[in-house]
Amino acid sequence: MTYQEAYAKLEACGQLHVLKYYEELTDEQRGRLLAQVEAADFSILSSKEKEAGKTAQRGKITPLSAMELDEIEEKRAAFEQIGLDAIKAGRIGAVLLAGGMGTRLGSDNPKGMYDIGETRPVYIFQRLIENTMEIVRKSGAWIPFFVMTSDKNHDITVDFFEKHDYFGYRSDYMFFFQQDMAPASDYNGKVYMEEKGKISTSPNGNGGWFISMEKSGVADKMRELGVEWLNVFAVDNVLQRIADPCFVGAVISTDSAVGAKVVRKAAPDEKVGVMCLEDGRPSIVEYYELTEELMEAKDAKGDPAYNFGVILNYLFRVRDLEAIMNNNLPLHVVEKKIPYLDENGIRIDPQEPNGYKYEQLVLDMIHELDSCLPYEVVREKEFAPIKNKTGIDSVESARGLLHKNGIAL
Ligand code: UTP
Repeated sequence: MTYQEAYAKLEACGQLHVLKYYEELTDEQRGRLLAQVEAADFSILSSKEKEAGKTAQRGKITPLSAMELDEIEEKRAAFEQIGLDAIKAGRIGAVLLAGGMGTRLGSDNPKGMYDIGETRPVYIFQRLIENTMEIVRKSGAWIPFFVMTSDKNHDITVDFFEKHDYFGYRSDYMFFFQQDMAPASDYNGKVYMEEKGKISTSPNGNGGWFISMEKSGVADKMRELGVEWLNVFAVDNVLQRIADPCFVGAVISTDSAVGAKVVRKAAPDEKVGVMCLEDGRPSIVEYYELTEELMEAKDAKGDPAYNFGVILNYLFRVRDLEAIMNNNLPLHVVEKKIPYLDENGIRIDPQEPNGYKYEQLVLDMIHELDSCLPYEVVREKEFAPIKNKTGIDSVESARGLLHKNGIAL
């Protein structure tokens, strides 16, 4: 993009301050800034829901029943067989979402590099690979394993895996790709500058993962390998079951476009998004959107009707992903501390939130699909998220759960 083109694009969306220091930049810095302007989608900054946490108007919410533990146990042998056959045939791939900033954990490194060991190093990435290896051993087949990173952590993540010899995984079955970044702005929608030649950006949420697979070319690799289903999961659940044959078998047998692992809510007001139907289509309703009436509604068994929270472990059918890929997902606006240059060009690292980042989320992809199987798992066996250093969903609580599951740290 030329300077003139960048000027026109920025002028049209009221962001001309991006070029304030252009004259001072080296040729290389100018080139990088122009490329950043070309790639950026500034339209998100004028999003209608400019208040953090606000989401678009919801449709009519009704219950969506889950496949519960008793039914799964009854059908386990058959499901596992179907799942293992699919894995053996190379039809199942894994996608690790590791592009987040992990700000709550407060480590400078990618979250997956966090060492949760006590007497030996146990990195989060290592735990996830060890879990996948269990299925590799059981099925005798390597599962194509895709890792999403972002501009902020790509090189360090790839180096870390290389240095650790992919924790025993076959390197030709591991594929790294980067997600897109989105500009971060002040409360009035003006983008911040991180350096004189660089717009402040942050990863654009975990909702763009499939588009990023396509853009980067790893989706072609995936198709070449014959993958028909992708198991997408978060980096921070250290009890994550990956390519779980029973789950895979259940989703395939029910001919669902997507399966979502869910856990029974610990309390009616627990702060998790729960599965539901919205205007007759599968969806997830956030805890703050659950009215008193919905919270008290009961199903046929007399249990709460909105009782199953998602844990960010989904199995998507690739052909359905291809069909919805260009659908617009809602934009989530999140308040954040954004480093910026003040009016004198001095870099400030704020101690309090000073603006917004803009994200699309994987959970919103569910609503685009025609069918979803919520699949119950036992929380203590499969859900040990690490969001914080201490307290709820922390390194401490995850260590406790790993011990309970007999994993030496
Ligand atoms: P979180 O919502 O916990 O976000 O991500 P985060 O950035 O890791 O952590 P905080 O909120 O800053 O503390 C859930 C999952 O989605 C991935 C994360 O890496 C994690 O696996 N994610 C999140 C991405 O891959 N990209 C993103 O842009 C955001």
